[in-house]
Amino acid sequence: MTPQSLDLVGVGKGFGADDILKNIDLEVRPGEFLSLVGMSGCGKSTLLRIVAGLERPDRGQVFIGGRDVIDTDPSDRNLAMVFQSYALYPHMTVRQNIATPLRMRRLSLPARLPLVGRLAAPGAVKAEIDRSVLDAAQMLQIDHLLDRKPAQLSGGQRQRVALARALVRSPAAFLMDEPLSNLDAKLRAHMRDELAALHRRLGATFLYVTHDQVEAMTMSSRIALMSEGRIEQLGTPDEIYTRPATLTVARFIGVPTINLLPVRIGGDGVISAYGRDLGLRSHHAAGPATLGLRAEDLHRSDEGFEVRIHRAEMHGADRFIQCTLLDDASVRFTLRQSARDDIGADGDGRMRLFFAPERAHLFDQSGLRRELRVPEKAAA
Ligand SMILES: Nc1ncnc2c1ncn2[C@@H]1O[C@H](COP(=O)(O)OP(=O)(O)OP(=O)(O)O)[C@@H](O)[C@H]1O
Ligand SMILES: [Mg+2]
Repeated sequence: MTPQSLDLVGVGKGFGADDILKNIDLEVRPGEFLSLVGMSGCGKSTLLRIVAGLERPDRGQVFIGGRDVIDTDPSDRNLAMVFQSYALYPHMTVRQNIATPLRMRRLSLPARLPLVGRLAAPGAVKAEIDRSVLDAAQMLQIDHLLDRKPAQLSGGQRQRVALARALVRSPAAFLMDEPLSNLDAKLRAHMRDELAALHRRLGATFLYVTHDQVEAMTMSSRIALMSEGRIEQLGTPDEIYTRPATLTVARFIGVPTINLLPVRIGGDGVISAYGRDLGLRSHHAAGPATLGLRAEDLHRSDEGFEVRIHRAEMHGADRFIQCTLLDDASVRFTLRQSARDDIGADGDGRMRLFFAPERAHLFDQSGLRRELRVPEKAAA
């Protein structure tokens, strides 16, 4: 089946007095892998359930392949779903669980295509279903578990069965809600590769919910970052990382978390912190603002701010060094450096840090991104 677009137009949803989704517009292009990310409770699952038809929005429209589906039952939307709380049939084996969507499709065939349904030899159909089930099970490394019942599986194994059950179909789109959340770190990394490869192979539309930014960054063609029922930013992983539209986005994406330095924009546009000209200019209105500095953009510099080191964390290739500003102990910085380098602190556990000005991100008081200018002198 050719991949279909998913469109949400002005979708709103409340539970009781709480507005959970506020006027969501989102277009998932045919064949793209779009991830919805955001903090717990921001409305990701609710949005996915609305696309699936399990939840009805209070306002707005939902289209699949350009077709308005607001009054279409979930079972008629032809979507494959894997949810956070996956439900397997307890009395069936893994093999039967995975085969269910295929057998249901076969059962519904005679009604739609009587001739094909009647002519297909039952043995051939069974062999085809068995092969599809085995393919999906092998991909998810559960082919040795096909004869077990769900109660005899670990949580992670059950999740993979649920995933396999979705993969055997050829739906208009795949909807996945944290399908890897119960897996250990190694299997998760393996499944990220598998899902990305699967997406390339199928060319299908994926709408994927996760609160794990690594999943979103590594697999998606685009990311929609949600916060409190709104989409804060929609963009490629690269756009979201290198040009975060808001402070919320900047804080959410990036390991370690972006460093935030309180600054002042002067009437002349000069940006300063703790009385010091940072070599950056802005046309934005004078007043307090925030400079976002990624850990990899901080470096040691004799001219820089003096910081006190609190902890060095070993991450294999890299080391994260946590420190606070000597001028203001409430400002914390994390510096990322190669673990092969010397930390470079003096005997008192202090060092001086500065940043690459052209990599700084400026946010105004309301948290919106603002353009920065780097005067030539500072950029040199
Ligand atoms: N049926 C419901 N009745 C009342 N409130 C609900 C209902 N379903 C969800 N909510 C509330 O709506 C908000 C969004 O929930 P949702 O499940 O969409 O969040 P989420 O982004 O998927 O979070 P998580 O990452 O924890 O899964 C939450 O505050 C939740 O408590
Ligand atoms: Mg959820």
